[in-house]
Amino acid sequence: MTTVLTFGTFDVLHLGHLRILERAAALGDRLVVGVSSDALNIAKKGRGPVFAQEERLRIVSALRCVNEVFLEESLELKREYLVRYAADILAMGDDWRGRFDEFSDICRVVYFERTPAISTTAVIEKIRT
Ligand code: CTP
Repeated sequence: MTTVLTFGTFDVLHLGHLRILERAAALGDRLVVGVSSDALNIAKKGRGPVFAQEERLRIVSALRCVNEVFLEESLELKREYLVRYAADILAMGDDWRGRFDEFSDICRVVYFERTPAISTTAVIEKIRT
């Protein structure tokens, strides 16, 4: 049983999100997703998400490729989450390339190429204009 773990906000779900989750799931047997809390998103991105954490957790957990979700409340707890969920692989988008290599002592760290030309920020901008 290979467990893959990934993290993200997954606000205003789009194809880039789905593609990274599908690719992460394909690396193992069980995909666990740490969904950033509203407070963490404000700290990371300087704005609150469109959809509240409970909504984002429900939406992500309903995807066929996702087995389990939890609320990621702090960037400092990555190692604890990896241990708690017995992750064999940490999968992240390559906007984070190199920044999680420190965890390669406890799991394999994989970076996937981001899907071009789409992001939550771009979708929000498109709706606004
Ligand atoms: N992701 C991706 N391709 C995209 C957008 C996101 O592969 N086009 C991946 C990110 O690399 C990350 C995960 O999806 O591993 C969650 O990203 P998130 O920050 O929630 O989405 P963004 O669309 O990047 O959000 P924002 O515009 O608010 O930064």
